[in-house]
Amino acid sequence: MAGNTYLQNASKAKKDEFYTQLTDIEKELRYYKKHFNGKTIFCNCDDPFESNFFKYFVLNFNRLGLKKLICTCYTGSPIANTQLTLFDVVETAEENKPYKAVVTTVYDKTGDGGIDMFDVAELFKSGENELTELEGDGDFRSEECIELLEESDIVVTNPPFSLFREYVAQLMDYKKSFIIIGNQNAITYKEIFPLLRDNKMWLGNGFSSNVGFFESPYEDKAKASQHKEGLIRVSGVMWFTNLDIKKRHEEMILVKRYNKENYNNYYNFDGINVDKTIDIPCDYSGAMGVPITFMDKYNPEQFEIIGLGIANLGLEVGVNPYTPEHKKYRKEVQKRGQVDGDLYMVDEFDHPVVPYARILIKNKHPEEPRK
Ligand SMILES: C[S@@+](CC[C@H](N)C(=O)[O-])C[C@H]1O[C@@H](n2cnc3c(N)ncnc32)[C@H](O)[C@@H]1O
Repeated sequence: MAGNTYLQNASKAKKDEFYTQLTDIEKELRYYKKHFNGKTIFCNCDDPFESNFFKYFVLNFNRLGLKKLICTCYTGSPIANTQLTLFDVVETAEENKPYKAVVTTVYDKTGDGGIDMFDVAELFKSGENELTELEGDGDFRSEECIELLEESDIVVTNPPFSLFREYVAQLMDYKKSFIIIGNQNAITYKEIFPLLRDNKMWLGNGFSSNVGFFESPYEDKAKASQHKEGLIRVSGVMWFTNLDIKKRHEEMILVKRYNKENYNNYYNFDGINVDKTIDIPCDYSGAMGVPITFMDKYNPEQFEIIGLGIANLGLEVGVNPYTPEHKKYRKEVQKRGQVDGDLYMVDEFDHPVVPYARILIKNKHPEEPRK
């Protein structure tokens, strides 16, 4: 998962500049059409001159029946005010000032029957729409951006990876609907996981194989294998949302049956280990530890999420700490980052075996076990 490591490192180093492609936005947002009618959309990490989120909503403004589109960007963005190719219309442009774009009317000015980029370029000349400099730096946590958040219905963007926890917390505080891009690892964050467990947030339809290709100024620092036509390949990329989508109600077809030989019991928790989501047995009624990619298939009518089998969140749901006799192996195990609260099994030599992060689930309607 080289790409994923790259993204984690990017997050640590606050390298937040990964720009989403229009095709990826289109692929995901077509599943949410029914939610957009009459709504105010806010893209709050998006330079209106560059963002494909902004572009998507302008191009589809009338088709989706939007009430308003608001877009703000951050001073810190290296592309802020550098690329005026699209809207060569701003006369007041002061160097390095972030903008607020507010769109309420999109006409087919070119008169060709559809909205295209020429119409978009005319947007701010009509006087009905607004393109102004922000007073502050455009931080999504700033007072003026929060005011805009308050008046909006749905927030749609790819926010900075390094501020994902704070970003989601703010959306929750203001009770906003959202469709945002994040890193797969966020599933296990102690601030994020409870939201998934409690059905306050879930995964969207997603990128193919959870791999995304983004434009980025860090391209020269990425490995050759992570490049594709000027884009950086990033694995473990997902859409997170709290808007209802069809996928969330689709039942996973379970074909495996439980037998003792094929499924190990955890040593420190009453449950079985399942290494692959497709191997979840259809007839097991107890707790099962499944990989975090299970979240992609999670249907709350089919499964209940009990908790996360790692660290403090593991301890909270009753995953016992290492026993003294296993603690002596802990140093070795810890090389892989494992700590008390992690689920573990024990091999034939009484050595602990720790799987990757596991989500603990129960099947709500297990089949009868075979006699
Ligand atoms: C992952 S990029 C995505 C950009 C754009 N949303 C897109 O999808 O193409 C995240 C953006 O958030 C901006 N950003 C970083 N910190 C921010 C903050 N505190 N408030 C608002 N935007 C921020 C970065 O400059 C960067 O452009």
